[in-house]
Amino acid sequence: MSTTRIVIGCDHAAVALKDEIVKELRGSGQQVEDVGTFTGDSVDYPDFAAMVAGLIRSGTADLGIVMCGTGIGVSIAANKLPGIRAALCHDVTTARLARQHNDSNILCMGGRVLGSAVALDIVRTWLSTPFEGGRHLRRIRKIEAIESQACAPEEKGR
Ligand code: RB5
Repeated sequence: MSTTRIVIGCDHAAVALKDEIVKELRGSGQQVEDVGTFTGDSVDYPDFAAMVAGLIRSGTADLGIVMCGTGIGVSIAANKLPGIRAALCHDVTTARLARQHNDSNILCMGGRVLGSAVALDIVRTWLSTPFEGGRHLRRIRKIEAIESQACAPEEKGR
């Protein structure tokens, strides 16, 4: 069985949580690439959201986790990239549904709004829940169609 390659990143507001998650995942034998940030010095969350999303789009990683203070900024930024389905989760229910219904490939969380025990439960649930497919796949195809339309060069002369 192939191992899931996980990439994780965050801004300064979620370093402590990220470090805990990395430790936990590596401790349980998961393959995790940590793209930082590594200190509490102020950085810009879109840079880390883009790094994590880029590694998924290139096929270097299978799933990503990205965090900022609330998780809102990183989710907005990551979702700008075609093919990225970044889900901001606050509990195990949203984490489970973000995989079952949305086939999310990036988990977003807020380091300033979640305790580490809840965040670790969210991570475990999100990583272990499969996509259900079926009607949910049809809806994801529609999201992909929206992306293709938005990215297509403007039709001229109509
Ligand atoms: C940084 O202060 C903060 O704005 C950022 O971590 C995040 O919460 C943005 O959405």
